[in-house]
Amino acid sequence: MAAGAIMRVEQNTQANTQTVSLPSSTKITLTINGVRRELQVEPWTTLLDLLRLNLDLTGTKKGCDHGQCGACTVLVDGKRINSCMTLAIMKDGSEVMTIEGLAQNGALHPLQQAFIEHDAFQCGYCTPGQICSAIGLMREGHATTADEIRESMSGNICRCGAYPNILAAIQQAMAHRRNVDRVAGERSVNPIANERSVNP
Ligand code: FES
Ligand code: FES
Repeated sequence: MAAGAIMRVEQNTQANTQTVSLPSSTKITLTINGVRRELQVEPWTTLLDLLRLNLDLTGTKKGCDHGQCGACTVLVDGKRINSCMTLAIMKDGSEVMTIEGLAQNGALHPLQQAFIEHDAFQCGYCTPGQICSAIGLMREGHATTADEIRESMSGNICRCGAYPNILAAIQQAMAHRRNVDRVAGERSVNPIANERSVNP
């Protein structure tokens, strides 16, 4: 498991001196934006620093580095987390999605498109975290009203104050999602309608 040099930690106790050996780096596997990667990381490396400094995925931003602004939000196994508060080794074997992985075949994710259409940013520094957090919110499925969305997004600070536009963008993406689900539902219960809609 451990590779590279060993870091020695000496701890004074009343009785004697205890020496503990810790690995200076550990091998982990992460699937990042659909690409499986084997990585050698130091135990104290945060997921945020791994993404930005080691993998050059600088779309994920560092704001406070203390879990208070949400700029570093990414999706891990589909759930939104603050990557500045997460050690990379804690997520060994997980799937990580960052803002760089959302567009598919050149098409923006509906939330990315909605942010553009609603002008939901000014400087853009908080935007990757806002979008990843909103995807997590939609997957959780708890927030439906404007107040619930605001509450559920309260961990993502926008210092430019683009909150009304961010809310409008999320609501548009949620409506889009409901529409896609409704059409899929109709097709599954009515194959004739499905055939007509595909081949009018
Ligand atoms: S940088 Fe992670 S919450 Fe602010
Ligand atoms: S757009 Fe500037 S901090 Fe949100």
